[in-house]
Amino acid sequence: MLRTDDGPTIKLEDYRPTDFVLHSVAMTVRLFEGRAEIDTQLELERREGVAGDARLVLDGDELTLSGLALNGTAVPAETYTASPERLEIASLPATGRFTLDIATRIVPEENTKLMGLYRSNGVWCTQCEAEGFRRITYFLDRPDVLAPYRVRIEADRATAPILLSNGNPAEHGDLPDGRHFAVWDDPFNKPSYLFALVAGDLDSIHEEFETASGKPVTLGIYTEKGRVGQAGYAMDALKRSMWWDERRFGREYDLDVFNIVAIPDFNMGAMENKGLNVFNHKYVLLDPDTATDADYAGVETVIAHEYFHNWTGNRITCRDWFQLCLKEGLTVYRDQEFSADERSAAVQRINSVRRLKAHQFPEDQGPLQHPVRPREYREINNFYTATVYDKGAELVRMIATILGRDGFRKGMDLYFERHDGDAATIEDFIACFEDASGADLSQFALWYSQAGTPSLAVSESWDEASGTLTVGLKQALELGASGTDGDPFHIPVRFGLVGSNGQDKVVTVRHGAEVTGDVIHLTGEEETVIFENVGERPYLSVLRDFSAPVTLHHEQSLSDRLALARLDPNLFNRWRILNDLVAEALVAASRDPQRTAEPPLPAQIVEAILGSAGDDTIEAAYRAQALALPSEQEIARMLAENVDPDAIHAAVDAARRLIGERGRALFERIRAEARPAAEFSPDADSAGRRALANVALGYLAAASGDPAPAEAQYRAARNMTDRLAALAVLVHRFPGTGAATAALADFYARSEDDGLVVDKWFALQATVPDPAALDIVAGLLNHPKFTLRNPNRVRALVGTFAGANQRAFHRADGAGYRWVAERIVELDKLNPQVAARIATTFRSWRSFEAERRRAAQEALEKLSAIPGLSNDTRDIVGRSLR
Ligand code: PHE
Ligand code: ZN
Repeated sequence: MLRTDDGPTIKLEDYRPTDFVLHSVAMTVRLFEGRAEIDTQLELERREGVAGDARLVLDGDELTLSGLALNGTAVPAETYTASPERLEIASLPATGRFTLDIATRIVPEENTKLMGLYRSNGVWCTQCEAEGFRRITYFLDRPDVLAPYRVRIEADRATAPILLSNGNPAEHGDLPDGRHFAVWDDPFNKPSYLFALVAGDLDSIHEEFETASGKPVTLGIYTEKGRVGQAGYAMDALKRSMWWDERRFGREYDLDVFNIVAIPDFNMGAMENKGLNVFNHKYVLLDPDTATDADYAGVETVIAHEYFHNWTGNRITCRDWFQLCLKEGLTVYRDQEFSADERSAAVQRINSVRRLKAHQFPEDQGPLQHPVRPREYREINNFYTATVYDKGAELVRMIATILGRDGFRKGMDLYFERHDGDAATIEDFIACFEDASGADLSQFALWYSQAGTPSLAVSESWDEASGTLTVGLKQALELGASGTDGDPFHIPVRFGLVGSNGQDKVVTVRHGAEVTGDVIHLTGEEETVIFENVGERPYLSVLRDFSAPVTLHHEQSLSDRLALARLDPNLFNRWRILNDLVAEALVAASRDPQRTAEPPLPAQIVEAILGSAGDDTIEAAYRAQALALPSEQEIARMLAENVDPDAIHAAVDAARRLIGERGRALFERIRAEARPAAEFSPDADSAGRRALANVALGYLAAASGDPAPAEAQYRAARNMTDRLAALAVLVHRFPGTGAATAALADFYARSEDDGLVVDKWFALQATVPDPAALDIVAGLLNHPKFTLRNPNRVRALVGTFAGANQRAFHRADGAGYRWVAERIVELDKLNPQVAARIATTFRSWRSFEAERRRAAQEALEKLSAIPGLSNDTRDIVGRSLR
């Protein structure tokens, strides 16, 4: 039986401004062991035109009111009502400003949702996006209510020598009884979701940064005691981000200080609170012995992302939560561009596209599908999705592709100029690009409102006599999903006609779809482009740099594809074309597991992979990407129905062994050449070389069945990247053997006090590609280092199992589904947001074969019948079953 008492549905079309305007906020927060007292003074005014008897309705969440005064006088009981969720006040002045003093009492120690004010490892900290501020005080808790804040924090000096909030430091001093205070002033208007407060005993590092116009800024990073030595790389990444945003977007920092606090208990990656970013410490703390190259890249990206929000999110915020992609899609685009400039652009693009296909495509192609700008939601926490973030970034990238680099920059400049200080909408954003360039983006805007991944079919025909290439393009969108009419999109298709010398030809475009530079603009359902004066027959390279988030079906001969995989001057497309060939072969092999006589990959494709991997003229990071097979989840998504994860695993594993055998000599050479430098450096080039050598290790182990080289590398490793790569080979390829068990025990022993390293140890065991991995994770639930209270730990064990262990989570007997569903029920009582996130791993259940499908449905239906399930989890489960 489905329950029907879900929370209300919030709709975009219902938006209207508040009845009351907020002018300023002054808060005093007194922190004690076991309780916090919050006094908030709001300066308010009835909005012009609003009825004189309209009541003020403030949001709350699990609050108790302990005092209420209007202009300094206690409000009589008969003129207000207070519940944990709402404070409603009548008889407020019809005109002019008035002050409201609101006192609330909360218990941060009991806050396991990690929203609002809570304690992490003894440190008081806050998380307010999206609707956490209402867990601290009653408020107009929505992003279009902006005000300057003045915040006074009081606490015991010994427990909390550090007192931080948004903005610039104003005053500080002593109080009786060993207590002290600090006052922070944030002059920039901001919405409540950007409020932050931190109090505790923290270590810190500081550096000075001078902005382009000569303004000094003091940068600070705060960590748990004893760990600030691991914050140096984050500080470096911060300074590089600040410098880059000045050069690339002309954006300078605005306050006198910029602080980052790293804490161990955090629901997400990090949070861009004005002048006081709060981070999951996973995205701050690093050293070569505990962090991999991927961790370094992740820290760089997240530091940049949160910093870039200062302009895209904070100075210009969102009118309402439907506009979330206005700040997130744009800021992801900005951090991707930063990483592309700091590292290899082609490899960064490959990484972003892999991520998009791994997370966003399945979301867009299943029951959790929603437009980049949703039209309705039941729980906003569930819309911090790959669609809003990653597809949102792709939409911004398409605007840049359509307008060109200069046109895009002009639109951004206009956006900053026109909307600084505003709470804006997607319409405002798009209008800036139209006004700055004169382009009409009305059809393009459909990408924001219409969900689903469009398919793009490309065909070509060559006329030898006239030297003419005719290209047909056709788009389609699967119908039936919410808000999908199947109207044609404006799809920018970046292309090139590649000659046998590996260079793009200069050709004449006769007619058909609009072509500007190297971009075909497909705007109709079906269009043709004719290229003349082509000379010898070219290889047609389309969708370069993945210029649109579509699924491509290019009718192209195997020999043309293999030629492009070798020749295309667009390095991204070389990878994409090879990767598509491999994926298609693996899909075919997985669909037909009986076909054991045939090799899982045709010899020509294996040779192409090895050719790319062995090309010393290309950067190592790219060569490692050419060797990385599509994930088993990606094969499942492409299969789309009747998915059998065991068959997929068998196909992928056979391919791995085949490549390992054919490439043995190459892999030995790569490993021999990859002598580690005397000192570890996290730079992209060194990381790329480590990545290539470690992929080679994996292939050699697959081909030989011999754990000895991995064992030797594990013992000799002098950094986490090489150690973890060797351990992964041992644990995933030789599970349960003496070699794997010994290395796992050693890994644990050397790092049991570092939660972030223990997370790697949990995650590795949760991803053993075998249905029996369920027994391993079930056992690890009782491990002393496991706790449901730390989101990183939960994600490492339960999240990784459900999200990345296809064979075990989707076990035919349904035991994987039942186990994860049980964890969701337990976790939901403590932290609904993280529980709901884990529940999304069921989203593709309908694509599995019948036995698994039935088991998944049963587990989901059982979940949805649990009384008292949170709104967060109920929303995900309900939509998944729809
Ligand atoms: N706004 C944060 C970011 O993208 C993500 C976040 C959302 C963090 C909600 C916490 C809560 O950087
Ligand atoms: Zn963000």
